[in-house]
Amino acid sequence: MRLDKLLAELTGMTRSKARETIQGGRVCVNGEVKTVIAEQVNEDTACVTMDGQALVFRKYVYYMLNKPAGTVSATRDRSDKTVVGLLSETDRKRRNLFPVGRLDKDTEGLLLITDDGALSHRMLSPKSHVDKLYFAKLAREITEEDIALFASGMKVDEELTALPAVLRRLSPGEAEHFCPDGGTAAAVTLQEGKFHQVKRMFAASGNEVLYLKRMAVGGVKLDGNLSPGEYRALTTEEVSCLMACTRMPEGENKSDVDE
Ligand code: URA
Repeated sequence: MRLDKLLAELTGMTRSKARETIQGGRVCVNGEVKTVIAEQVNEDTACVTMDGQALVFRKYVYYMLNKPAGTVSATRDRSDKTVVGLLSETDRKRRNLFPVGRLDKDTEGLLLITDDGALSHRMLSPKSHVDKLYFAKLAREITEEDIALFASGMKVDEELTALPAVLRRLSPGEAEHFCPDGGTAAAVTLQEGKFHQVKRMFAASGNEVLYLKRMAVGGVKLDGNLSPGEYRALTTEEVSCLMACTRMPEGENKSDVDE
């Protein structure tokens, strides 16, 4: 593999940052400083260091995608564009990548894409209680009663009684960024991911979601530099965050999944 690509995969940095790092003489392969970005390196056997620190080759890849509206959370689809179709051809060829769970076709924002089936399974397990933060544009302002209702573990409909969820008004900074037109919006944090859950919860409170965007999952925040349709590798810290939030006590049953 080319050295700049390998460094990007090992660290989660962008290719251009990897090139800059290599050209700055900060990267060694098998003890030798390498400054040629296109140098071919055997990723299975090479010992790569950056600033003297050994980098470990990851068995799996983890990406965050800023999902655009109009794409379906699937690997393939007969009629719609898929989120996996937004990845580069090289990524699609090299790896068996899939989205971790689903966002609706019209929902935007953070979608994790990986080839790590075990992590995906744990992320989707209702037992993991992974926090998911959404910003929603709404038909009407939220009230104190709505906040209490979401916190109480509301009966959404005949099929769903939700776990307690945190509903809050956006901070002035968040509102300015998310709703520059001055519309009505709120943030909601859920620990589960049932079908259309956010839309169903607002509908059950007599409101309507006009636009939905996922901002964070398991402590990993959507990178504000990613335009809709763009993606990047997770950093080592972000992967550790996901591993930590899905760690379960010994003996827990991990077989059920949401969505
Ligand atoms: N809840 C919804 O209603 N839609 C999504 O896409 C995600 C959560």
